[in-house]
Amino acid sequence: MVRSLPEPPEAGVVNALRFGTDTVRFLEGIQARFEDGTAVSIPGRPPLVVLTGPDLVAEALERPDDFPRVPAGGAAAMIAENGLVQSEGDLWAQQRSIVAPAFGGRQVTAYANTTGRRIHERAARWAENGTHGTDLHRQMTSLTVRVASEIILGTDIGKARADQFHEWMRIAGEEFEFGLETVLPEWVPTPTSQEFREAATGIRELSEELIDRRREALAAGDEPEHTDMLTMLLRAEDDPDIEYPDNQIRDEVATFLIAGHETTALSLTYTLSLLSRNPDARERVRAEAVEVLGGGPPTHDDLVDLEYTKRAYREALRLYPPAWAVFRRANGDAELGEYVIEDGSAIVMPLWTIHRDSRYFENPGAFDPDRWGRRDPKRVAAYRPFSSGPHACIGQGFAMAGATLVLARLVRDFDIDVSETALDDLRLTPTLRPADGVPATITPVR
Ligand code: HEM
Repeated sequence: MVRSLPEPPEAGVVNALRFGTDTVRFLEGIQARFEDGTAVSIPGRPPLVVLTGPDLVAEALERPDDFPRVPAGGAAAMIAENGLVQSEGDLWAQQRSIVAPAFGGRQVTAYANTTGRRIHERAARWAENGTHGTDLHRQMTSLTVRVASEIILGTDIGKARADQFHEWMRIAGEEFEFGLETVLPEWVPTPTSQEFREAATGIRELSEELIDRRREALAAGDEPEHTDMLTMLLRAEDDPDIEYPDNQIRDEVATFLIAGHETTALSLTYTLSLLSRNPDARERVRAEAVEVLGGGPPTHDDLVDLEYTKRAYREALRLYPPAWAVFRRANGDAELGEYVIEDGSAIVMPLWTIHRDSRYFENPGAFDPDRWGRRDPKRVAAYRPFSSGPHACIGQGFAMAGATLVLARLVRDFDIDVSETALDDLRLTPTLRPADGVPATITPVR
């Protein structure tokens, strides 16, 4: 029999306020109390639905017609309105099918090898400098944004632009810090800061510049070695069956500049921080890297033998999923499992709490890469750092391959140490971000 999701006993307004102001603790409480999920009623509004059960999450993600994404509005639309991370329906299907070939097997190899080269160069510079302090997150951002621009958009944006991008992302993080209005946009109209408007303009202008450069290169007959995503988008303009809304290519470029690097940079920052706090695991990553990597840059071919490093990365994505929650809304009254979800409900699927639920992960607070060597279907179903269904991350192969090589290369040659409290102050924006960088000391060990 179909029924409503249970409601928490506290008044709806109290829950809504806690959700907006003390989000993580609120969600942890909900995760502990409700096996499938809860509907928090909010006076005069459709409910706020939190799904805590992996089966309901999987089903909701499989049905974008009933549970579409929340459209980009307000500040987010100032960067991009219709990129692949925001669009739905026919436009999303058209765009996903145009760009999908840019993320397949050969492109993963190109991405991995480019990442390997870039991290090899960076590691050589670090080795020359001896011990030094740095912001680990800034380092990882500058690495991943340059690789993403080179492989996805056909142009390395260079060091100065990469540093500028890190600053834009910090400003955007402040603008998008999570609160009630993130899920219920009509509640509180929030004015955007001047700083944010400048950052959004900067990202749009950089996107246009990259498009112009690629157009010119193609017109001059300069064919890329591996057909990148931007080239595919530009070629599709000539297809009579394809119609782009205004600014579509710019929206895609801006979207991929962000989606293509930010989560990967965060995941590297978190994994290296966890390895700093777990020296035994770090030693095992190092021993594996010493055995597998040769004297030159790490390459895609090395991946098959970096088994423990991959497990460590997977485990870090469990404890610190850069996309800490996935958001949807109900498009009409809809059944989900044995429950009915009310039209207009805001739906939150908190990967952070599901990944730390002892029903699915033994000793969930422990950093235990070896858990990924044991078979456990319950755990697999609850683990969703790249989401699932039609909107599942298109860059998952890039992220897994590139990050594994970066970790192996860095851990082989350096102790990267962060303080015990380095990950205590995290901000919820659409991604989970360190509030104020992650100070680290880098010391060569070989
Ligand atoms: C550790 C790294 C990454 C994580 C944790 C991650 C996570 C995610 C998640 C959770 C989603 C689904 C969002 C939803 O269902 O609403 C997603 C979608 C997406 N990701 Fe990633 N991502 C990562 C790396 C990348 C990379 C490297 C790229 C690009 C090269 C990328 C591009 C995208 C795009 C375009 C989408 C939207 C796909 C669609 O709706 O068709 N991501 N990602």
